[in-house]
Amino acid sequence: MSFQPPKGTDDVLAPESESWRAALRQWESWAERYGYPLVLIPVIESTDLFERGVGNTTEVVTKQMYTFTDQGGRSVTLRPEGTAGVVRAFLNSGHQGPWKAAYSGPFFRYERPQAGRRRQFFQVGVEYMDVESPEADAEVIELGFRYLTDIGVPELELTINSLGDSECRPVFVDELRSYLRAKESELTDSSAELIDKNPLRVLDSKADGPKLVDHPRMIDHLCDSCTEHHETVKRLLAELEVPYVEDDGLVRGLDYYTRTAFEYVGRALDAAQNAVGGGGRYDGLAEAIGGRRAPGVGFALGVDRIMLSVGQEIDTPLDAYLVSETGPADALIAASSLRRDGLRVDFDTEGRSVKAQFRTASRAGAPVVLVWRGDGQPVDIQTRDGRAERPLEEVSSWFRTAR
Ligand code: HAM
Repeated sequence: MSFQPPKGTDDVLAPESESWRAALRQWESWAERYGYPLVLIPVIESTDLFERGVGNTTEVVTKQMYTFTDQGGRSVTLRPEGTAGVVRAFLNSGHQGPWKAAYSGPFFRYERPQAGRRRQFFQVGVEYMDVESPEADAEVIELGFRYLTDIGVPELELTINSLGDSECRPVFVDELRSYLRAKESELTDSSAELIDKNPLRVLDSKADGPKLVDHPRMIDHLCDSCTEHHETVKRLLAELEVPYVEDDGLVRGLDYYTRTAFEYVGRALDAAQNAVGGGGRYDGLAEAIGGRRAPGVGFALGVDRIMLSVGQEIDTPLDAYLVSETGPADALIAASSLRRDGLRVDFDTEGRSVKAQFRTASRAGAPVVLVWRGDGQPVDIQTRDGRAERPLEEVSSWFRTAR
């Protein structure tokens, strides 16, 4: 067949997909431990939501969105990120007070594809809404750190910065603007255009950011309350024994951040794509999308990058392969009974020879082969270490005691 997946998208098949499944299960377990229930939000949203939420001078919004007009003439966009949609859902729910949500799924950005930078990629994340305290930030940051440590991202480093708030940031932005004006001749046209509109985005530019090593730093311009918040977040992380590195150049690519911003970096990955996750506080986002004031904090992790960096091998998901000497109809009934007892069992539906079935069992890496000889006959249980015989209804208890 000549069809290929669209550029920058992937088919993930077994056995690699089994590593994904395990990583997602592990994620669910950590999100549940921290009290984050699942939220399901649409993959398409009004284009306005991202323009107003993520910011219409960000690269994500100006260059990377998959936007189209639907049959009803509305402009809709495949979600490039999850925070705007989750905050919209929170506001629509009418909930008052602290509210937690975990999400996972595909996201879309029209980027130049390479390893770890895809046009369709998979994120898991959390948002914690209607919370103001530094304890909320610390809890969120810790959750991502514990999960990434548990799954084994090598050379994991947490970087953290503060981006100030509506009081202190404008003063800093003015100073940054003057600094950039003085350097305007060295900048690309697209950065020069941003000096007036959104100078912070110039620092985030791939072409110009690295040239601006001596730019003014937000951290030197924080107001007293932002300083106190930032210092408390750092102290709490130290108490939680979550190691971090301060990075006063960390600005993040989305406009909604205030105060805390952080990234989880996998130093073993290629430097251009080594952020395995990122997040921060966004105290003005809910209002920016037309809602009431509802400060929040959250993060998203890039599962494609996590899988690249851990490259883990997952054991076979089968407990046993059922080989039938009496054809597939019998095997279907026997396998069903074992599955209802909780075992992970597969068998051949196509009536192939016993020899061929044994070959499939070994290719599948099944640790146990169950030979079905027919009604009334005990099942022949074959393992690497020996054999046993049990009636069908006792096979699952044999598994429980054998393990
Ligand atoms: P982000 O930094 O844009 O933040 O994305 C989070 C993570 O998603 C990145 O660190 C990266 O691992 C992964 N990622 C992003 N783009 C791609 C891509 N094209 N290919 C592969 N992986 C990618 C956000 O999306 C925010 N919504 C995070 C957040 C939640 N902030 C507060 N709450």
